Amino acid sequence: MINEKLPKIWYGGDYNPEQWEKEDWDEDVRMFKLAGIDVATLNVFSWALIQPDEETYDFEWLDEQIDRLYENGIYTCLATSTAAHPAWMAKKYPDVLRVDYQGRKRKFGGRHNSCPNSPTYRKYAERMADRLGERYKEHPGVLIWHVSNEYGGYCYCDNCADGFRNWLKEKYGSLESLNKAWNTRFWGHTFYEWDEIVPPNELSEEWNGDSTSFQGISLDYRIFQSDSLLECFKIERDVLKKHTPAIPVTTNLMGTYNELDYFKWGREMDVVSWDNYPAYNTPESFTAMRHDLMRGLKSGQPFMLMEQTPSQQNWQPYNSLKRPGVMRLWSYQAVARGADTVMFFQLRRSVGACEKYHGAVIEHVGHENTRVFRETAELGRELTQLSDTLLDARVHAKVAIVFDWENRWATELSSGPSKALDYVNEVHKYYAALFEENIAVDMVGVEEDLSKYDIVFAPVLYMVKSGYADKVRQYVQNGGTFITTFFSGIVNELDLVTTGGYPGELRDILGIWVEEIDALPPEEKNQIVLKKDTGSLAGSYECSLLFDIMHTEGAEVLAEYGSDFYAGTPVITCNSFGQGKAYYVGTCPDQAFLTDFVKTICDEKGVKPLLELPKGVEVTERRKDGRSYFFIMNHNSLKVDFEISEGTDLLTGEELKGITSVEAYGVKIIKR
Ligand code: GLA
Ligand code: ZN
Repeated sequence: MINEKLPKIWYGGDYNPEQWEKEDWDEDVRMFKLAGIDVATLNVFSWALIQPDEETYDFEWLDEQIDRLYENGIYTCLATSTAAHPAWMAKKYPDVLRVDYQGRKRKFGGRHNSCPNSPTYRKYAERMADRLGERYKEHPGVLIWHVSNEYGGYCYCDNCADGFRNWLKEKYGSLESLNKAWNTRFWGHTFYEWDEIVPPNELSEEWNGDSTSFQGISLDYRIFQSDSLLECFKIERDVLKKHTPAIPVTTNLMGTYNELDYFKWGREMDVVSWDNYPAYNTPESFTAMRHDLMRGLKSGQPFMLMEQTPSQQNWQPYNSLKRPGVMRLWSYQAVARGADTVMFFQLRRSVGACEKYHGAVIEHVGHENTRVFRETAELGRELTQLSDTLLDARVHAKVAIVFDWENRWATELSSGPSKALDYVNEVHKYYAALFEENIAVDMVGVEEDLSKYDIVFAPVLYMVKSGYADKVRQYVQNGGTFITTFFSGIVNELDLVTTGGYPGELRDILGIWVEEIDALPPEEKNQIVLKKDTGSLAGSYECSLLFDIMHTEGAEVLAEYGSDFYAGTPVITCNSFGQGKAYYVGTCPDQAFLTDFVKTICDEKGVKPLLELPKGVEVTERRKDGRSYFFIMNHNSLKVDFEISEGTDLLTGEELKGITSVEAYGVKIIKR
């Protein structure tokens, strides 16, 4: 349980009473109670308010808020306010300001804007966390610490440059090994002094955000910046822990956000939390994958849905409303995949600046007679009714998909073979195929133990980190099924090519040698032609993007290319290795192929869909104390029927058997 003080699914969200008048505060509380809200996140962006100058701290306002909420049965998720530095700090200590990708020194403005290596920022952020910890350590209303907010963005200032050099010294020991790792004899880049190294941005090695002349330095800079921001988190966390060892500490993450290696971050957090903002056209499978990824950061431990909008966003190009029922549906989608909280941004809509048209539980009209409020209150009632039933329940998956941020960075920084290659997209295609089949999936990092899985997919495993090939080898030898794709096994963890034939260290496991890689514009297709029907795979499918031209070295050829000069050569192979099998998908197949392919592999391993359901109906299972909870989520705009052998509707108590139905955008939680 995240905190035993509140043994139910927490319900609430970001609350910014500092932005409106005292008169509204009592109204807020009245409506929170009506909506079943029991947690409010305070102090996210109030640094300038509680520290008006260098020496003055004024917590009175915050005391009053925390007390008032607590007296009304509402707990506080207490943020540390360090996600936006005060203007006076920027003026007095310009080192808190970042230097951007174009090399421009920023001025005061925006948020999430502090240099992570600024001594001033670190000092005052730590001091703020210390004061907050000291002041509220005994307060019964404080449920959890919310450090900063959505860490992200990189800095290229001189402090970061110095920090980077020290970080490199630590990593490589000597310039000699750094020069080797970055292959600096290319384009005459040999470094003789540490201070010759400068951050890679548009003033030096990079352009477009993802293009570089030196992958080595660009990859290291990403790791370094992610580590630097993580260091800022740890500084605050440690000082908070000193005051309140028993109160959990988190910071809100952003799903598949590119710039931070969240597997490293997850290890430092007591509980993972994240902000879920799908657009009207985001596939349900993509949101599901992001929930599973957030659950994967701490090997399946429940996470927090820290933010979602009750109705609409303001920052997307088209901010459609969540249709009636959809807020509830998407809230349960999070719970179904491991969330033990449902929280919003925000509880009341602001009246000024760029988020005034962002959805909120209390809208500008200011009363409870709105669709959004009614839906929020209805969900609040259900979550109160569910009490602690679902807390800590676990998802059990027999299938894993490997996701790795450093691999992603290396793939995307690669110059060639195709600019259309998008790592997250490729991973999502496999995820989507499993999602359609209602197969439970764990999204795992490269540190995860593979032996608990029957099937492991590792799409575009371009970078094979030290020891990982052995891990895969052992997994397959012991009977596991491993699937990888084109552009895998190409480089080691320094992004240096493993010579001797692709896919490098994975070659013996896969029983193939890739001689050449063809890359064509996305609209140009080839075909995957099955040699014979295999499981659900039959006939031919389309493929695009990259096309490996390969030779088998023991693997069986399942399918061949249909056209071009490599027609009739292998494209899909399967190698028996020890007691297991290793499949290779040498191109980017269409979704029809992936659907049939995952079905074939799951059938072969006896991995079954959780339930057979109509299209557009998602199902997950969470288990606790020998009981199973099935979440049936209908993403269709029409009611659908499905069959269930038996079970109890957790919310209505109704006994279910045989044909039952779920409303348009409806959810059923079935206990078995
Ligand atoms: C993020 C931030 C919030 C708010 C919302 C708006 O998640 O953490 O402060 O800006 O976006 O969608
Ligand atoms: Zn900096």
